[in-house]
This record gives sequence, structure tokens and C-alpha cells, in this order.
Amino acid sequence: MITISLIEEIRRLINDEDSFETQVQKIFVAYHCVPIFDHSLEVAREAKALAKTYGEDAYGAFRAGLLHDIGGIIPNENRVSVATKLEIDLYEEEHTVPMIIHQKISKVIAKEIFHIEDQNVLTAIETHTTLHKKPSALDHIVFLADKLKWDQGGEPPYGDELRRAMQQSLEYGSFYFIDQLYHSPSLKIIHPWLRDAYERLKATNE
Ligand SMILES: [Fe+2]
Ligand SMILES: [Fe+2]
Repeated sequence: MITISLIEEIRRLINDEDSFETQVQKIFVAYHCVPIFDHSLEVAREAKALAKTYGEDAYGAFRAGLLHDIGGIIPNENRVSVATKLEIDLYEEEHTVPMIIHQKISKVIAKEIFHIEDQNVLTAIETHTTLHKKPSALDHIVFLADKLKWDQGGEPPYGDELRRAMQQSLEYGSFYFIDQLYHSPSLKIIHPWLRDAYERLKATNE
């Protein structure tokens, strides 16, 4: 079965004796995705710092941050077929924009390779692009850390405004970001989880 072989292929790249960080790094290196590793490490550190600030699980935030984009090792054009082999349910919107699927593949790798069982950590990984109907504090933290340490290099243009919004609350920070995104012409489709998140955050933050 190809599902097994993908997970096996990844598993063969790492040693149990290596630290968590080194194991993740080895996978990204083997798949020629070093820039995603660099971004993931920044997100992990930011998520850990935010978790400390907001009194949340700093260890879980670091792990979620480091693994959030590991599904990115699968190229866009292969994401639908890989997700199908991993028995991941896909929305029509994910067939249209397969980029979004990386968050679901990351969750499977977190579970199967790194044996993460903490549902809070898994959900934060799985929803870091879209959020969802009822985000936890950890979901907001990983979502926001990913936006603050974006993968385009340097500080994002919205960084200061986003940090200001986050001073009000994590929820308000996510609302600020999604509200901008929602009205941006670059938004190709609206993922059902993003719609749910937006509607809920709009109701409680406007
Ligand atoms: Fe991502
Ligand atoms: Fe990311």
C-alpha cells in the first residue's frame, strides 16, 4: 500500500536518538524543503513565546509550530493523491486549491511519525491555515505565529497592526487577519472552516 510506503519513507529518514528538532530538520532536508524548515522553526519559537505570554501550553505550541507545515514536503500537484492514500477527507475547495491540504497532511505526519496524541496540538496543526468553527487558544497561537513569521522572508507588512490587534486578545488578532483576508482579491476560494471561523469571530469581535 502506498500510504504505508510514504509514512515508511519518512520514518526511514530519522533516528530515535536525534532530538525532535533534528528529526524534523532531516525530513525537510531530505525533501529539499529547507526554507520551510527555517520558517517552521521561526513559527515554533514565536508560538512558544506567545503561549508563555498567554499562559498556554508552550511545549505543545513549539511542537505544533515546528510541524505545522511539514505536509509541505508533498508538492502541490501531488497533494490530492497523497491525501486520498492517507484516507484524508477532502472538501471540493481543497481539490480546487490543493495548497490548503498541506495542513491536513501535516497532522497525519505529526501523528504517525512523531506519535503526537494531544488533540489540541493536532488540531492546531490541522487548522493553521483556515482556523475552524471553535478555535482553542492554541489554535489561535499557531495560526497567528504562522502569520507573524510568514514564509515570504522578513517582517510581513501587516505585522505591527496584527500585533496591536493581538494586544486586545488572541481572538481579536485572528479576526483582524481573517477580516483582511476575506476582503482580499487574492482569496481564490473560501474554505468551509475559514468561513466558520470568520462568522464566529465576526459575531464576537465586531
Ligand atoms: Fe502552512
Ligand atoms: Fe507556515
